[in-house]
This record gives sequence, structure tokens and C-alpha cells, in this order.
Amino acid sequence: MRRLDGKSALITGAARGIGHGFAEAYIREGAQVAIADINREAAEATAASLGESAYAVHLDVTEQRSIDAAIASVIERAGKLDILINNAALFDAAETVDITRESYERLYAVNVSGTLFTMQAAAAQMIKQGHGGKIINMASQAGRRGESLVLVYCSTKAAVISMTQSAGLNLIQHGINVNAIAPGVVDGEHWVHVDAMFASLENKQPGQKKAEVEAGVPAGRFATPDDLTGMAVFLASQESDYILSQTYNVDGGQWMS
Ligand SMILES: NC(=O)c1ccc[n+]([C@@H]2O[C@H](COP(=O)([O-])OP(=O)(O)OC[C@H]3O[C@@H](n4cnc5c(N)ncnc54)[C@H](O)[C@@H]3O)[C@@H](O)[C@H]2O)c1
Repeated sequence: MRRLDGKSALITGAARGIGHGFAEAYIREGAQVAIADINREAAEATAASLGESAYAVHLDVTEQRSIDAAIASVIERAGKLDILINNAALFDAAETVDITRESYERLYAVNVSGTLFTMQAAAAQMIKQGHGGKIINMASQAGRRGESLVLVYCSTKAAVISMTQSAGLNLIQHGINVNAIAPGVVDGEHWVHVDAMFASLENKQPGQKKAEVEAGVPAGRFATPDDLTGMAVFLASQESDYILSQTYNVDGGQWMS
């Protein structure tokens, strides 16, 4: 018996990166997975590559109508929703005096409002079904401390940690466990973008920021999405039924150092 046999999961931002890795792992454990992403073509390509247990759902987590439609698509396709991973997020970096309202509002719309209202819609569906559920929010080590050029992103991830605490306490009465994962640095397309941003902000060579960050990870390397899947499966399985409101570091020791 696999650990997620018969479960229906929705993963936001699953067209690439960590979300894609989670989808693969959930399918290996027996779940049916909605690959929900604002990038429709990428979501469809990812779902097609994962076989018949995956299907694409168009989702913009900043739009309530889109969130409601995505949940409705999951119910139409799978008949129920057991697991949500709130994984979609945006990153930006700037000197404090250069932060724009546009950047602030864009990151808060996806990372904070998107996480809250997708969690709310999933929880309402789970309550209606009456069998509990599992909600996993993607936080970050960035939510546990400040970073000189990363004020807005760090604060959105601190908000995710806080929302996980309160929602976990509130939703356990319905048998819904809400927890979060705080990765350190995870290799993928996201880091190509981050490295380029820091190259420009700190006048570095391409690849230099990434190498410097990697040198500071106690485990000696960036994570791959596969390094996070054990925690994501555990938090979606019945093994975590007595755990709520927690944020787990999966970061190669980065926060501890
Ligand atoms: N990569 C890292 O080093 C790292 C470290 C700590 C935490 N995280 C967190 O892990 C999660 C996944 O990170 P990643 O590196 O795979 O990111 P990524 O940028 O590679 O992927 C994010 C996905 O979210 C989608 N997305 C963006 N806006 C959306 C919206 N409005 N609605 C729906 N989908 C949208 C994108 O199309 C993309 O497919 C994020 O929450 C991120 O903050 C990543």
C-alpha cells in the first residue's frame, strides 16, 4: 500500500521546479495530482509528462474566481480534494530604498493573499467533504530572518509561517492539518533568475552569487526538489495526523548555521 493511495491533490505552481518534484513524488505514492499553474502551456506539458495520474488546471492564485474554478475542476475530475500544496510564489530583490509598490503588491498578491485564499477555498471544500485533509504551505528560510536585499520576499514568507500557525489551530477541529516546509536553496530555473538579479544588484559575474551561497550551505550543495519530497509526502500522509501549525526546515542545515 502506497502512502497516498486514492488521494486527490492540488499543487499550485506545479508546472516546474519544486512543485513539479512534489507532483512526481505524490504520483509515485498513489495520488492523483492537479498541476495548477498560471502558465497554462507549461502546466499541460508537465501533466502530460507525468502520465494519467496528473492533469493540468489553469490557476492564477491572485484571482478568487480562478481559485474557485480550479477547485471546481479538481472536484469534476477527481471527485474530491484531500491535499493542497500552496507552492506558487514570486521572488524579487532590491535595496530597501529602491523597493517599488508594484513589486511589493505583486509579491504579496501571490505569496500571501494567494496562499491564504487558496488555503481558504481548499479548506471549505475539505470541510464540506467531512473527511479532513492536509494543507502544506511553502515557506522558506527567508521567512525566519532578514536578508539585506530581500525585504519583501522575506516578509511574505514570514507571513506564510504565521498563517500556517493560525490556520492550523483553527482547522484541526475539522481534521485538517496545516503545516509548512521551509527550504533553504533549491536548484532550478528559479535560481537562474535569482543569480541574474544579484549579479546586477551586487555587480557579480553570472554564477558567482550561486557559488557563494552554495559554499555557505552546511550540507555542501543546493537541494534538488527530490530532497524536499520526503517531507511533503509525510505531511500529506496519515503519519502526520497529530502535527499542526509547524514549519519544518529542509535546508541542509542552512538556518542552523
Ligand atoms: N528555489 C528555492 O531556492 C526556494 C527556496 C525556499 C523556498 N522556495 C519556495 O518554494 C516554492 C517553489 O519554488 P520554485 O523554486 O520551484 O519556484 P519557481 O519559480 O521555479 O516556480 C514557481 C511556479 O509558480 C507559478 N506561478 C507564479 N505565479 C503564479 C500565480 N499567480 N498563480 C499560479 N501559479 C503561479 C510559476 O508559473 C511557476 O511555475 C515557492 O513558494 C518558493 O518561494 C524556493
